Amino acid sequence: MDFEVIKQNIEKDFNDVNDFNYLNLIKSKYLGKNGIVTELFRKLKDIQSEEEKREVGKKINSIKQMVEEKYEQKEQELILKKKSLELKDIDLTLPGYNIIKGNIHPITKTMEEINSIFLRMGFSIEEGPEIETEYNNFKALNFPEDHPAMDMHDTFYIDDKYILRTHTSPIQIRTMLKYKPPLKIIAPGRVFRRDAIDASHSTVFHQVEGFMVDENVRFSDLKGVLDLFTKEIFGKDLKTRFRPSFFPFTEPSAEVDVQCVNCKGKGCSVCKQTGWLEILGAGMIHVNVFKAVNYDPEKYTGFAFGMGVERIAMLKYGIDDMRLFYENDIRFLKQF
Ligand code: DAH
Repeated sequence: MDFEVIKQNIEKDFNDVNDFNYLNLIKSKYLGKNGIVTELFRKLKDIQSEEEKREVGKKINSIKQMVEEKYEQKEQELILKKKSLELKDIDLTLPGYNIIKGNIHPITKTMEEINSIFLRMGFSIEEGPEIETEYNNFKALNFPEDHPAMDMHDTFYIDDKYILRTHTSPIQIRTMLKYKPPLKIIAPGRVFRRDAIDASHSTVFHQVEGFMVDENVRFSDLKGVLDLFTKEIFGKDLKTRFRPSFFPFTEPSAEVDVQCVNCKGKGCSVCKQTGWLEILGAGMIHVNVFKAVNYDPEKYTGFAFGMGVERIAMLKYGIDDMRLFYENDIRFLKQF
């Protein structure tokens, strides 16, 4: 057995290695189950002389050690080479990729802002289905059968029982049927009307409904809550005013105006020279609504209000065409 030749071969074999796969192949060529070194150890037992056996054993051991050392050496070398290659591929002076970030939609943003103002006042959020019964949407809210007030809502009918809700007010009915007073609820959601689309009308838009029911809830509570709301969302220096109005589900009813956010009440084209902008409808919950949900109208009173989110967003951000909200032009959406 020429150990010198084996050593030379080991030297050469490991020198030729250029990748991890080949490195392992070479290792097993010598140390594997049928490897050259393994084979040498196996033959060792055929040597008769104990002395010679010891001598040869030592030599085989040193060869084994050499293979292990060469292996480790080469492995380190390959790891370093790999790292430096990776580094070379990265040009740290190049500018980074421009990651296009998404945006919260201005309607979502406005809705969240409205919600958070009322949450801070102790209201809780309730939701209802977009497909609603005609009963919850109209009758339970004291719309008389076939009353012209229903025309105002240009309803999408699904069949003779179900419709797409025309406002968020039916959530009042659902919530009052589910819980007992006291209640302080806001109900945001999408609503639908069979309207012609223009700068201030859409077939799909958003509302936030609010209502409070307890013993001794008064109109002045409504005024306090809504005055605080308008100051929070439009600015502390703007006044609100309540004008008498009509809704079937409230009595008395009011429309609430805020001083024009554009001219602060002086009169401009945004407020059509009136100095005021209408922002929501409100009132004291009608006795018939309480009857529809089996609340005792002798014991409980409550107020309700409802606002269009698109309208609030348009006034707040000075947007003059509602259609901009639905076109999803990134140049528009990026501004919020
Ligand atoms: N539901 C009404 C609408 O869509 C808005 C409204 C007015 C809601 C007065 C109310 C309210 O709760 O009290 O036109």
